[in-house]
Amino acid sequence: MASPARPLALVTGASGGIGADLARELAKGGHDLVLTARTVPAMQALADELKARGANSTVIAADLAKPGAAAELANSLDDRALRIDVLVNNAGLGGVGRFDQMDPQRVSDMVMINVLALTELTRLLVPAMVARGRGRVMLVASTASFQPGPRMAVYFATKSYVLSLGEALAYELRGTGVTVTTLCPGATATNFFKAAGANENLMPAMSASEVARVGYRALQAGRRVVITGMMNRILALGGRYGPHWVTLPATAALMSRR
Ligand SMILES: NC(=O)c1ccc[n+]([C@@H]2O[C@H](COP(=O)([O-])OP(=O)(O)OC[C@H]3O[C@@H](n4cnc5c(N)ncnc54)[C@H](OP(=O)(O)O)[C@@H]3O)[C@@H](O)[C@H]2O)c1
Repeated sequence: MASPARPLALVTGASGGIGADLARELAKGGHDLVLTARTVPAMQALADELKARGANSTVIAADLAKPGAAAELANSLDDRALRIDVLVNNAGLGGVGRFDQMDPQRVSDMVMINVLALTELTRLLVPAMVARGRGRVMLVASTASFQPGPRMAVYFATKSYVLSLGEALAYELRGTGVTVTTLCPGATATNFFKAAGANENLMPAMSASEVARVGYRALQAGRRVVITGMMNRILALGGRYGPHWVTLPATAALMSRR
């Protein structure tokens, strides 16, 4: 259980990439951790590393693509009397290809993890934060949130949902003591593109540690939305306000090279 002096942060997708680095930032910032993903040995190794930095971690294995996984995770927290002060919804999955040719299971997993599990977990954990009058929530979206993305259509659509939800919740929860920060990274050097079925990432990528540093600062400041890096801010603005007759073929061409 967390010591009373250290707030407790739950990070989903904590077995690697941005999630593991967000956990490192949170530990550095004085939090204890609950780490969750499917790959337990990687999270155990991270827990050992964080212990050396003074943070206690609890590892909970969860497959967020399974129906009911968020509720099961919330029950595991209750069973262990773990009270979450900071929720980081980071777990996410991509998929590259033409929609009608994609593995239907992949499509379903993306929606389950990126949309449903994130929404359910937030709905289950936020009421206790509101009741306590304090809490922080992070939703990890993407620069993909700002436009439709042919050849990665479902992923882009799920991330648009995450940004829309995050901004609306941040507004709804004003005055409750609970902040909601939506983190929008651009291309980041993690396992993400390989897992998404892409050859490799052809965009200049930020490191996961830099993305996590930017995200953690924004979370602590209670910022509503943060886009990592100047180039990504320009890309996101272009995606949101550029004419779709330009952005649709440009995105399709970029995704076809992956
Ligand atoms: N990398 C980028 O370029 C980029 C850009 C913008 C946004 N993002 C977003 O950043 C977040 C983190 O991605 P990343 O780049 O760090 O990718 P990553 O290295 O592939 O990490 C993804 C994390 O999600 C977890 N995950 C995947 N399937 C899961 C499942 N069924 N149940 C539970 N956890 C699952 C993975 O753990 P297990 O496999 O152990 O379950 C892993 O910890 C995602 O939401 C992604 O959409 C990434």
